[in-house]
Amino acid sequence: MNHFELKDGELTCEDVPLKTIAEAVGTPVYVYSSATLERHYTVLRDALRGAGLGEPLIAFAVKANSNVAVLRTLARLGAGADVVSEGEIRRALAAAVPPERIVFSGVGKTAGELAFALNAKVAEINVESEPELRLVDQVAQGLGTRARIAIRVNPDVAAGGHAKIATGKAENKFGVSLAEAERLYANASNAAGLTPVGLACHIGSQITDLAPMEAAFSKMRGLVERLRDQGLTVERLDLGGGLGVPYFNQPAPPGPVDYAAMIGRVMDGLDIGFAFEPGRVIAANAGVLVARVMHVNARPEGRRFLVLDAAMNDLLRPAMYEAYHDIRPVRPRPGEPVAYDVVGPVCETGDTFTRDRMLPPLEGGDLIAFMTAGAYGAAMSSEYNSRPLVAEVLVKGADYAVVRPRETYEAMLARERPAPWLQ
Ligand code: LLP
Repeated sequence: MNHFELKDGELTCEDVPLKTIAEAVGTPVYVYSSATLERHYTVLRDALRGAGLGEPLIAFAVKANSNVAVLRTLARLGAGADVVSEGEIRRALAAAVPPERIVFSGVGKTAGELAFALNAKVAEINVESEPELRLVDQVAQGLGTRARIAIRVNPDVAAGGHAKIATGKAENKFGVSLAEAERLYANASNAAGLTPVGLACHIGSQITDLAPMEAAFSKMRGLVERLRDQGLTVERLDLGGGLGVPYFNQPAPPGPVDYAAMIGRVMDGLDIGFAFEPGRVIAANAGVLVARVMHVNARPEGRRFLVLDAAMNDLLRPAMYEAYHDIRPVRPRPGEPVAYDVVGPVCETGDTFTRDRMLPPLEGGDLIAFMTAGAYGAAMSSEYNSRPLVAEVLVKGADYAVVRPRETYEAMLARERPAPWLQ
């Protein structure tokens, strides 16, 4: 459930018409609903609690939506943060996420980032390879401390909506095999700079079938038991993120309750603390990207291009993954639906959001909203074509706040320096 609804013929976010925001802040603009963020978090938390998984750490995957106001909204409910860079650690800390709720993942952490994480006293570093294990040990010893680590396991299971976001097959760059994890965990328990606390896995994103997750999680349980049989302590199991969401008008994947029940079954009787790293399931349907129709280019030969002021640099998912986003007029006009090719102003054909999409009739000046854009939307945007990063707005009830002002041209240019010989 989300809080974007038609009220009096106008698409609103909670109690604020999107038109009000577009007029005040300009377009394109990302708009997030506090109520939807809060609801998605609490539904997942309650489902996990209800499945007998204790009081798990729910570490929101910051990569999905790294806006500090969004992170703060979730942190206030008790969410932690799954981070993959020093920048994301800094964002989580700026949002007042307690360090003991921060989990540091990622295949290539630098020594500098590891030192920053250890100094910040993050809860756990998810180690993805043997060279990284040695580096973490070395950095921790250099700081006179011990790093709490989990070994990221690659369970060799195929899952995920698109090849570019599947992470759990042996051929993917993530984690180590089950056999390697067993060896590395035992090694780590003898290293002066390491305290192994558990295991982690994350097999992909936008997963719409629980079977591959169940297969992966069963393997993880087996590994916990084998390590414990060797007398090793395993106190934490981090099962990653990946649960898919309905991209409106698309078939609904299993929800948090089914997901939690499956995990409860697989982990029944295993005495361990659980962590999760959900991103999309919390943020995707809590955000939209509002854009303005610049004009309709109806070719005499037939194609009808809906040219928007938003482009692939603002919402990359369609160009990158052929992703589907529902498109809704902010004030639907009466009339028969028309087939549009929806495009942005960037100078390449990849800047096409969708082709032959049936939409209510639209005219230049109308507003539309890309739905399900709260995850991997603003977070993946860029300034390609020297288009300044767009504004982000957070709504709460009848209030809204600009939580990231639109980048200015002045600020964009001020970041660059002429080479001395070009002065
Ligand atoms: N944990 C780790 C280690 C991850 O790599 C990811 C996502 C997550 C958690 C969160 O996964 P989620 O719950 O959001 O599925 N840009 C792509 C998605 C990339 C996901 C990368 N990893 C997209 O727009 O679909």
